[in-house]
Amino acid sequence: MNDYNTLIKGKMVYGENKIIIKSPFNNIEIGSVPALTKKDIDSVYDYAKKAFYSWKELSPQERIEYINKFKKEFISNRDLIARIMALEIAKPIKACYSEFDRTIEYIDQTIECYKKEFINPDIVKENIHGIKGKEGYFFREPLGVVLAISPFNYPLNLSLAKIIPALLVGNTVVFKPATQGSIVGTLIGKCFFKTKLPHSVLNVVTGKGSEIGDYIIENNNVNMISFTGGVDVGKKIASKKSMIPLVLELGGKDAGIVLEDVDIKEVAKEILKGALDYSGQRCTAIKLVYVHEKIADKLINQLKELIKGLKIGSPFDDVDITPLISQSSLKWAKSLIDDAVKKGAKVVCGNISDENILFPTLIDKVKHSMLIFDEEQFAPIIPIVRYKEIDWVIKYFNNSKFGLQGSIFSNDEDKAWEIAKKLNSGTININKSSSRGPDIFPFSGIKDSGFGVQGIKWALESMTRIKGIVKNKI
Ligand code: G3P
Repeated sequence: MNDYNTLIKGKMVYGENKIIIKSPFNNIEIGSVPALTKKDIDSVYDYAKKAFYSWKELSPQERIEYINKFKKEFISNRDLIARIMALEIAKPIKACYSEFDRTIEYIDQTIECYKKEFINPDIVKENIHGIKGKEGYFFREPLGVVLAISPFNYPLNLSLAKIIPALLVGNTVVFKPATQGSIVGTLIGKCFFKTKLPHSVLNVVTGKGSEIGDYIIENNNVNMISFTGGVDVGKKIASKKSMIPLVLELGGKDAGIVLEDVDIKEVAKEILKGALDYSGQRCTAIKLVYVHEKIADKLINQLKELIKGLKIGSPFDDVDITPLISQSSLKWAKSLIDDAVKKGAKVVCGNISDENILFPTLIDKVKHSMLIFDEEQFAPIIPIVRYKEIDWVIKYFNNSKFGLQGSIFSNDEDKAWEIAKKLNSGTININKSSSRGPDIFPFSGIKDSGFGVQGIKWALESMTRIKGIVKNKI
């Protein structure tokens, strides 16, 4: 077992206490990370604030060079990081590598976008819009210290999708990885440390939620928070912080709506992928399927057949389903199944567990009175709701407390488009399961799914403010 140190105040430190990180796969201790204290957090923010004044004065090119040096160091650790990720969050190793590569692409695209759209000011000349005697120069300025909090399910992508834009535009960063995923967080910090990133520009704070969870949010030196994670914590952040920009990506209950005119085999494949990738532990996973009653039996049979072919087991093997992140996640998922069964739903297959693994579970005859109709399972469960009228589906879709994404499957694109326009959600996908990517798309949610926009250009925007200088003719 390794003790991992973390980057704070320009140094890799161990801290007086540590948190042991175990693998959800076999419960074996993988390593420890420092359990930082409130005192550490106070001084990290003081240093990050001081570092901001010099970091923002570097030229864009100088900051880009630091990010490129980081990228090089990061790539040279690809295997180590992917393997630790597989151990730490039980994501299939292939998906860990894909996340790694997607993140490299994300970094490149963010640098390109920054160069093209953020370095030069927007200029509003006097001959435009009939403005007389005025010429406005509108610059993008950094905000100060950005607090980036990432979730367990994308410890690389959703961490660096916050850190990179924040640093590029001239902010300094306090980064809090999810506890399960914090070894990966310390490795990100180490790669920055090795590239000799100036003192305190990035700080990776690891620690117990009970000790520093609220404390990192409350500090007065935080100028912006970008958070991805649970609804409760998101709401807590929103209630504790006013007058600073927040981007909150919280949960989702993305529904897939299947019209009666589809190619059932194709749609079943897409739903399976959308619902079960990383064992359903994605905010954009399909978490409810509305299917027209005329084709429901066929779709369910097709899904059942596909589920039979799924491989279940170790994240280091070529499998589809791996253990859930914790016993409490498994317990929650099972409680939703039990509630549905009690209220009349039918388990078609699955509902078997082994340690942290939940076998992919297909549930038919789900009704809106059941918890699983509106609660986020974050587990490999596909709840099926049979419908007669699309207006009924639209009503219930829009009644959901979440509003991240949704998908419609139909061979009639115009019809799908008309329905998509009526659905109240961040994004509606036609003939594909919901997903955040490609990362150049804006990504946002409404209601309990959060607010603010992510995606390359929007992440950069969210971490800057506009500063205008207006020349007036005298
Ligand atoms: O759960 C995090 C959310 O951002 C999902 O991303 O890429 O799996 O759609 P993705």
